[in-house]
Amino acid sequence: MLARRLLRPATARQLTVPLLAQSYSSSSPAPKGTPDIDPSALTIEKTASPKPLLPAADLVFGRNFTDHMLSIEWTARDGWLPPRITPYQNLSLDPSACVFHYAFTCFEGMKAYKDPSNRIRLFRPDRNMHRLNRSSSRIALPTFSGPKFVELISKFVNLEDRFIPKQKGYSLYIRPTMIGTQNTLGVGPPGSALLYVIASPVGPYYPTGFKAISLEATESAVRAWPGGVGDRKLGANYAPCIVPQIDAAKRGYQQNLWLFGEEGYVTEVGTMNMFVAWVNEEGVKELITAPLDGTILEGVTRESILELARERLVPEGWKVSEEKYTIAQMKKAADEGRLLEAFGAGTAAVVSPVKAVTYRGEEIKIPLSPGKETGPLAEKFWNWMLAIQYGEVDHPWSQVISE
Ligand SMILES: Cc1ncc(COP(=O)(O)O)c(C=O)c1O
Repeated sequence: MLARRLLRPATARQLTVPLLAQSYSSSSPAPKGTPDIDPSALTIEKTASPKPLLPAADLVFGRNFTDHMLSIEWTARDGWLPPRITPYQNLSLDPSACVFHYAFTCFEGMKAYKDPSNRIRLFRPDRNMHRLNRSSSRIALPTFSGPKFVELISKFVNLEDRFIPKQKGYSLYIRPTMIGTQNTLGVGPPGSALLYVIASPVGPYYPTGFKAISLEATESAVRAWPGGVGDRKLGANYAPCIVPQIDAAKRGYQQNLWLFGEEGYVTEVGTMNMFVAWVNEEGVKELITAPLDGTILEGVTRESILELARERLVPEGWKVSEEKYTIAQMKKAADEGRLLEAFGAGTAAVVSPVKAVTYRGEEIKIPLSPGKETGPLAEKFWNWMLAIQYGEVDHPWSQVISE
């Protein structure tokens, strides 16, 4: 079988990706009608040396991985090849592989949770599939059927059941990744790719309760711009944000608040979407977040918070807006006592309360609930989201995948 020829035996602990890719022209288009991902062709090779489980207290985000990985190769000529679950192992790539030179890489971040009946759940996996396809298509990597990939991820996660901690707040972080594997220094669409999934057990983001963060409004660097790729989850978007993050950290700030343009539009915070709650100039309580104008990542948490807010806060008199807003408007609201709350939103922390933003050397203080490291809204969303993610309430966003 082709897949067998392309991959070395897993016992070598190395996954060799398309040797055949060398023979593809970097400009060969993906022929229409090549096979999609096929879960029925999955082969599973279980590890002969299962890893010991770490004590929950020792789990560090993204440091330890489960026993296996899921891999699916793609070539322009043959489409998606049979999926494989193998022991977790190194990849073996030619040094000329395009991923190393031209950043043909995109990824997703999602989690599997254990519910009170010990069943495994995913949270809105269709959203991650949609976003991964949008990311891959933007960098000339192949697309795939979202439901079929979720079916495979579910099989993989079920196999790794013992790594999913049972305690609330803990989860299995799942990292689907796609890379271009074509061996060429020619700049062009990759003729071969690898889609793979690894998973890492993770502890609660706030093991000892919320910890509100201080931000530096960043003007020395721009994360994303109109017509750019800030709305896709490309590896190339992340490396350039590290130096500004280090610079902000040296000055005592936990995250960058990314601004855009002379107007100082507030876009995102670190690797989270940003929400602000204020009493707006018309005297109405408003929850506002930047619109999906191409410079904002379409966060699954962002979308979920917006939907929950429309369902549960609007009846209480709140306005919920996806509108541009500026750092100057935040400052004015703070000066006039109208700024109520601010928080980041993302899969890792769910919500991350913000206590201050420093802009051009001036601190904008953001209120927190008395004696707490969060405001009331962030806490509410955190509770609502966790209840859904951990299956404590019945909700269509949470999908049971236990076999
Ligand atoms: C730049 C950026 N914004 C926002 C988010 C939040 O997205 P999500 O809620 O889907 O995790 C992430 C994390 O994936 C991100 O990397």
